[in-house]
Amino acid sequence: MKRIPVIIDCDPGIDDVMALLFAFVRPELDIRLITTEAGNQTQDKTAYNARSFLTYMNQEVEVARGLEQPLFVDLEVAEEVHGENGLGDVIFPEPSFEESNRTAIHALYQTIMTSDEPIVLIATGPLTNIGALLLAHPEVKDNIRSISFMGGAAVGGNMTPTAEFNVYVDPHAADIVFRSGIPIVMSGLDVTHKAFLDEDDLKRIGDIGTELTERLVELMTFYTKAATQTAFHEENYDTNVRLHDLCAVGYVVEPKLFQGDDCYVAIETTSELTRGTTMVDYTQSLPYAKNVHVLHTVDRERFVAMFIDAIQKAEQLIKGGNLHVEKN
Ligand code: RIB
Ligand code: CA
Repeated sequence: MKRIPVIIDCDPGIDDVMALLFAFVRPELDIRLITTEAGNQTQDKTAYNARSFLTYMNQEVEVARGLEQPLFVDLEVAEEVHGENGLGDVIFPEPSFEESNRTAIHALYQTIMTSDEPIVLIATGPLTNIGALLLAHPEVKDNIRSISFMGGAAVGGNMTPTAEFNVYVDPHAADIVFRSGIPIVMSGLDVTHKAFLDEDDLKRIGDIGTELTERLVELMTFYTKAATQTAFHEENYDTNVRLHDLCAVGYVVEPKLFQGDDCYVAIETTSELTRGTTMVDYTQSLPYAKNVHVLHTVDRERFVAMFIDAIQKAEQLIKGGNLHVEKN
């Protein structure tokens, strides 16, 4: 199987670590680098969490620390959703390996430019690092195949009524990325709200009865309790666990799980009231080039089955096993 060279830029973050679990067991992915964003928590915490969770999974990939702050606004973290430590206050091991001595921008630049084939960027947090990279080294565009990004929404928001968290935290970086001309697949709230675990799925995972599944249920229980309800009016609230960041990985692994449309998407960066809104022209009525493939539908049953299969494969890694993933 020809593996896809990827870099994962994330802000671990409860659903970010679930996305990392999923990515590390998939044979399709050749994970070259992890870079961390300030978002769900501060850079100190997300950079630590990435290495701590990879240590727990018995995986060691370069983890390079990103910018401490968004490009032009103050950092706003989501402590109420992801906890004081960024992982629902669930404790994973002390990292067994050091943080990279390269900054995220440097590591992204060198990893992309030295790759013998174009890289897919999987972005599951604010786009600060990628926006800064494109400002500093626009030439990287020539060796980036696409960006699979969890963020934005054609309708609604979870940070404000019209803005999703990742884009809200750094709208200017998102604007740079969405104007870059790099092919973008956007897993916005429109699709991630359909990619959920329901109570039966959570029970199925809990019934596996291992330390990993116990921790995953703890993480997801914290996430569900805290996640901002984004449906209008409480009669529409539910206890489903949204697999937001997994969608950005899932699309790279198996695009056929999803449906979407090519749309013109622009980012609101000036208005305080609607900062971070992704203006998605899903009515196809504006005379601008369609720059984003916006996902709106997912085969939830198959996606959940793939995640539960990933949990079972992760157990093998945690026990020190391999998954017989052939190297290129
Ligand atoms: O809006 C959901 C996104 O914001 C996810 O990436 C979650 O981890 C948070 O970063
Ligand atoms: Ca995230």
